[in-house]
Amino acid sequence: MLILKSHFKSRNGNLIIGELDVVELAKRFGTPLYVMDEQRIREKYRKFYAAFSSRWPSVLVCYALKANSNLAIAKILKSEGAGADVSSDNEMRIALQAGVPGTKMVFNGNHKSPSELKLAIENNVMINVDSFQELEAIEAITSKLKLRARISFRVNPDVQASTHPYIATGLRESKFGFDVASGQAFSAYRRALDMNNVEVVGMHANIGSQILEPEPFEEEARKLMALVVELKEKLNVFISVMDFGGGIGIPYKPEEKELDPNVVAERMVSVVKSVTEEKDLPKPTLMFEPGRYMVGDSGVLLTKVGYTKERPGIPTWIFIDAGMNALIRPALYGAYHHIEVANKLENKNDFEYNVGGPLCESGDFLGKNRKLAKVEQNDLVAVFDVGAYGLAMSNQHTAQSRPAVVLVNRNKAEIVRKRETFEDLTRLDQIPEWLK
Ligand SMILES: Cc1ncc(COP(=O)(O)O)c(C=O)c1O
Repeated sequence: MLILKSHFKSRNGNLIIGELDVVELAKRFGTPLYVMDEQRIREKYRKFYAAFSSRWPSVLVCYALKANSNLAIAKILKSEGAGADVSSDNEMRIALQAGVPGTKMVFNGNHKSPSELKLAIENNVMINVDSFQELEAIEAITSKLKLRARISFRVNPDVQASTHPYIATGLRESKFGFDVASGQAFSAYRRALDMNNVEVVGMHANIGSQILEPEPFEEEARKLMALVVELKEKLNVFISVMDFGGGIGIPYKPEEKELDPNVVAERMVSVVKSVTEEKDLPKPTLMFEPGRYMVGDSGVLLTKVGYTKERPGIPTWIFIDAGMNALIRPALYGAYHHIEVANKLENKNDFEYNVGGPLCESGDFLGKNRKLAKVEQNDLVAVFDVGAYGLAMSNQHTAQSRPAVVLVNRNKAEIVRKRETFEDLTRLDQIPEWLK
């Protein structure tokens, strides 16, 4: 059965992204090709922001660059008013280049190097501190620089979210944050009070990624707000920024349903509202760090069929020009990405195929047992929902060039990341003296 999300269309059997035919895009830019739809990204940001800002006076949505750190994508989100969630110095530099001011950025991660902390402090970026040792490092760096650091603590609220174990980050045994239940998180705030150069502004948690139910977010809000009350009552510390992280998922499988941010916002905001009113606390800014939700379904990986191979007793293999090098999620998480033959959308999906990439590993497939239109050499195969954690997690296995990225804006298309060349792949290699 042909399944297209509402922002895609079919014209003469060809997939249309924005207003452009992918057959033309493939001719113009070659394959494999990541295609990103600008209007869809804008739509997703606006929906997310409106869900929270219509219910709460102060909201900052920081786009999580880890999902897709392309400069043009960062610029689109900046132009919508988004801040940035960055997890490395280079992401910070990309966000700065996109025009996001440091004051609208948050720096995450459990291993921030001294030079990364320095860059964050110099740019007045809020740092989500992840360990006691990191807190001490920040105090040392700020006193050397004679600057103050705006900090928040990443706390671990022990919330279970049904997602892949590798991307469930809010469980007690995960490596992230200060444990709430044992009082470790409370101790971190108390320790910071004794420091001269840190200004405690926030509280942060991130319970995981690809979450499609609202309950874990509500539980997160409840657990964090309980700690906010404890901090106010016992330490007279006021938390002015509540950073609830990212994690809202997207439907990858045809049978999955979207999690409407309005449903999440309704539940989370009502928790914050009732606690702040009951305890007479000032209203904090609510901060969010969505990545996947913003850019995931705007991206399509456009590939071409090189060969097909029949095997008795199993679905026919089709070999396309991109595999786990360009998109590792199926190999890494067993993730499902919907696949269609992009130049035969009006044909019946009556044939069963395994869709393999070009690499020398049996794990190199993008889909198995998929019902597709009859596939022939040179057909175009579209892999959907690859805008988040697609190119960002790609690699150069067997010295494959990373695909180019094209941005489509209605009837316009331009390259926003060039295809890697042989020179790009070998530029950093050097021959030692004894091998010359
Ligand atoms: C701290 C933090 N914030 C935000 C995100 C973005 O998550 P998502 O893309 O699921 O919204 C992640 C993802 O791993 C994260 O670790």
